[in-house]
Amino acid sequence: MCGIVGYLGQKDTKDILLGGLKELEYRGYDSAGIAVLQEGNFHSYKATGKLVNLEEKTQDFITNGFAIGIGHTRWATHGKPTELNAHPHVGESSYVVHNGIIENYADLKKELIADGVKFLSQTDTEVIVHQFEKNLKTSDSSFEAFKKTISQLQGAYAILLVTKGEDETIFFAKHGSPMLVGINAENEKYFASSDTPLIGHCSDVNYFEDGDYGYVTPVGLAIFDKNNKVQKPNFSKLTQNKLSAQKDGFRFFMEKEIYEQGDVIADTLMGRLSDEEILFEELDTTLFKGINEIKLCACGTSYHSALTATYLFERYAKIKTTIEVASEFRYRSPIMSKDTLFVVISQSGETADTLETLKMAKKAGLKTLVICNVDNSSMVRLADACILTRAGVEKGVASTKAFATQVTVFWMLSLYVGKLKDTMSTQEIAKQIALLREVPGACKVTDNLHERIKRLSKRYLHGHGFFFIGRDVFYPLALEGALKLKEISYLHAEGYPSGEMKHGPIALADPELFTIALLPQHLLYEKAKSNVEELSARDSTICAISAIEFDKADDFIAINECKDYMLEFFEMMVVLQVLSLEISVRLGNDVDMPRNLAKSVTVE
Ligand code: AGP
Repeated sequence: MCGIVGYLGQKDTKDILLGGLKELEYRGYDSAGIAVLQEGNFHSYKATGKLVNLEEKTQDFITNGFAIGIGHTRWATHGKPTELNAHPHVGESSYVVHNGIIENYADLKKELIADGVKFLSQTDTEVIVHQFEKNLKTSDSSFEAFKKTISQLQGAYAILLVTKGEDETIFFAKHGSPMLVGINAENEKYFASSDTPLIGHCSDVNYFEDGDYGYVTPVGLAIFDKNNKVQKPNFSKLTQNKLSAQKDGFRFFMEKEIYEQGDVIADTLMGRLSDEEILFEELDTTLFKGINEIKLCACGTSYHSALTATYLFERYAKIKTTIEVASEFRYRSPIMSKDTLFVVISQSGETADTLETLKMAKKAGLKTLVICNVDNSSMVRLADACILTRAGVEKGVASTKAFATQVTVFWMLSLYVGKLKDTMSTQEIAKQIALLREVPGACKVTDNLHERIKRLSKRYLHGHGFFFIGRDVFYPLALEGALKLKEISYLHAEGYPSGEMKHGPIALADPELFTIALLPQHLLYEKAKSNVEELSARDSTICAISAIEFDKADDFIAINECKDYMLEFFEMMVVLQVLSLEISVRLGNDVDMPRNLAKSVTVE
């Protein structure tokens, strides 16, 4: 998730901007930059890597007296993490920083290039500053030009823009990406994409609403809403607890990351869905030329999203799909053929076992693709092609939003390949796309649901183990639910195909064996239900998760009625994540940093 800061006032603007960016480091980034306008002169610096690189570049730059400035930490989504792609982006005499995704940037860029504009970066953001300067030529004021520019953008954005002709004004706009402005008794103005950079500087903050835009000057704050009506600032007192602010007020990063899955999946989908087609601008269709098999390879949670993908690829793209556990694959003598696309999946892009299998595939001459959350990671640099999941930094060691965005990417990719291989009609793809658009809503954690799971979790703190069971894509989801529980509660749990319980494990059935049963309404419901009834008949303690009331369960967690099994998948995913979290909390464990685990296993 990118980070944005802005400042208007008399203090050392450079230090305030760099200090603000430091407070946003926890969000993850791969480059950073600032731009300061003082007495009509711009000073801008950008650097890849950590903030210390930017600090080095700016060490001789001192600001004193009144100035305005903007700063940014970038988590690459469009364009590699390079200095050219780092923000702020510059036009002729203006700078802009942006968080979010401009969906219509390609059309705007085409027009601007036709007008003779020279682009320096690969980013979507750069169109904002050039579009603003194009509008400046035909507008009565900078504000009118800014207002017109914002009206021409589609997608998600939090924007700060400064321009030479207005060296006492910062323009802002917010839609879909968070941003707030803070004030204090010294009449300073602070901007940030979350509250931590403002703590210790501001007393009161205004969280912008979607559609808000306007400007700040030394004497005022002008906010206009999406209907262009003047909006009275809605100031609230700013928390002074930085750690709590980094967690957006949640108890744990993992909890925050569960709650933000809907938002990050909206980013994952952004710019990749038209009404009838999946758009992966980062892919060249030649990647799939001559490919008759897809082989997926990963570890842990990433393996579970890959296992989910095997069902989707074969169902929608009718392409043979196999899957490997990376740590096993690398020591087998696998037969690899060049008509196989080798796909590695990794949140970190650094997992040693997975990285080694990628090297094996490349050595064997296979085409390779990585599904990853960290641009510029080892796997991203090595693979022939990459699809970024855009989950933002995932701080919780137990993966949640990375898994959710991986499955979302795979669902899209199965349709993309289905179109390439002509195994799906336009109507079928359009229907799936309409379902994809509902995934963010399916990931919502309501207070009622969380409270219900919290209450129910007290019953599952002991016993001689858990089975998480499901069929089809709900089997990898069961595996993932079991892994979440193991990781953060330290209780033993197994994911199992529902239909396999009668081939041995049912011998364990007794009241101390807890079975978490996934019963999707739209996929093999009757089959899965009868498997659960077999366990219930043997007095296993059962917690059923379904949209349909199931009276043979000891506990029942209702999900919303959905149009499709894949939406049930995301609804149940959230339940399993919250259930593990609440059991772990009751056991007094460190939810974010469970014992013995590392966020990225870069060793064998
Ligand atoms: C997931 O909760 C675990 N932290 C772990 O299984 C993880 O998924 C695995 O180590 C793979 O990591 P990667 O996705 O970064 O490759």
